[in-house]
Amino acid sequence: MAQPLILGIESSCDETAAAVIRGRTLLSDEIVSSASVQAKFGGVVPEIASRIHSDAVDEVVLRALGKANVRKEDLAAVAVTYGAGLLGALLVGLSFAKGLAYGLNIPLIGVNHIRGHLAASYLEDETLAPPFVTLLASGGHTAILFTKTKTDFEVLGGTLDDAAGEAFDKVARVLGLPYPGGPHVEKLAREGRPVVPMPKMLKGLGGYDFSYSGLKTHIINYVHTKEQRGEAWSKADVAASFQSAALDILVEKTVDGALERHVHTVTAGGGVVANGYLRERLQTACEKAGLKLVLPEKKHCTDNAAMIAAEGLIQYEAGNVSPLSLNARASIPLR
Ligand code: KG4
Ligand code: ZN
Repeated sequence: MAQPLILGIESSCDETAAAVIRGRTLLSDEIVSSASVQAKFGGVVPEIASRIHSDAVDEVVLRALGKANVRKEDLAAVAVTYGAGLLGALLVGLSFAKGLAYGLNIPLIGVNHIRGHLAASYLEDETLAPPFVTLLASGGHTAILFTKTKTDFEVLGGTLDDAAGEAFDKVARVLGLPYPGGPHVEKLAREGRPVVPMPKMLKGLGGYDFSYSGLKTHIINYVHTKEQRGEAWSKADVAASFQSAALDILVEKTVDGALERHVHTVTAGGGVVANGYLRERLQTACEKAGLKLVLPEKKHCTDNAAMIAAEGLIQYEAGNVSPLSLNARASIPLR
């Protein structure tokens, strides 16, 4: 049987993206980012994001179809992020996808952005199949999940306050680094050592839960105290200390989850998983525990449309199509 050709569209935040897959094979993967424009404002301005999506969406979709060398008439379905994200930004991609699906008389598949991050691993390894344990670490969510089937997962635990990406962004601001902070903190951390004393509270939480707001406050207090006393301090050491404190706990709890659930495979997704230190740590810990690790390419950890197409395929195969009345949603519970 011919594999279905699916177009994925993503516009939930500051990336306008479109990708085409045939089955689990990625044919094209296009993206226009407004991050450099948003950086001037120190964060994403929703109105600006919506306008940039409006300017970019048709061009990005046409490019994705062109690079995949397919005609829109050959598509089996259009998958699009309908939430969570910025409402105005989501509506641009969703409305475009609706028009395309209606015009071509093919199914519209509304995709939950977070499930998209989880589906990115399927593109990395064509043999990947549940059950597995997944580390989800993005700007809005951080959790450890037990994926039972392609469409069902259990939340083993997660952050009680800030998401990991959010903590990176806030610490970056304290260190005077631009938005989005994660990649800048990672780069700076490479020049430092984790010598700044860190609170033990991260480890103190039982089960698979963790908390980032205390860690963030600790960093802010450390920097302010040093400055008030006129003492020298190293930005790079603070970055390295924060990074290891924030990420080691994720690695540890993810591996614990996999061993406890007796799965043989670990996957990961979300912008923070683009972090090189986290990737190396996960690789080492999984090897030590005898677990197979499937990590999406870095560009498929941060927001992209390939993951939306991949989740679209899962929903398409499960027969889950959306009505053309589907509305955008600013937030969707993890489960
Ligand atoms: O998944 P994502 O692109 O968007 C959301 O769905 O939230 O994640 C964005 C988050 C931001 O907080 C960003 O700072 C963080 O991922 N991030 C990183 C790195 N690259 C992106 N955090 C740490 N290290 C990185 N290299
Ligand atoms: Zn995301």
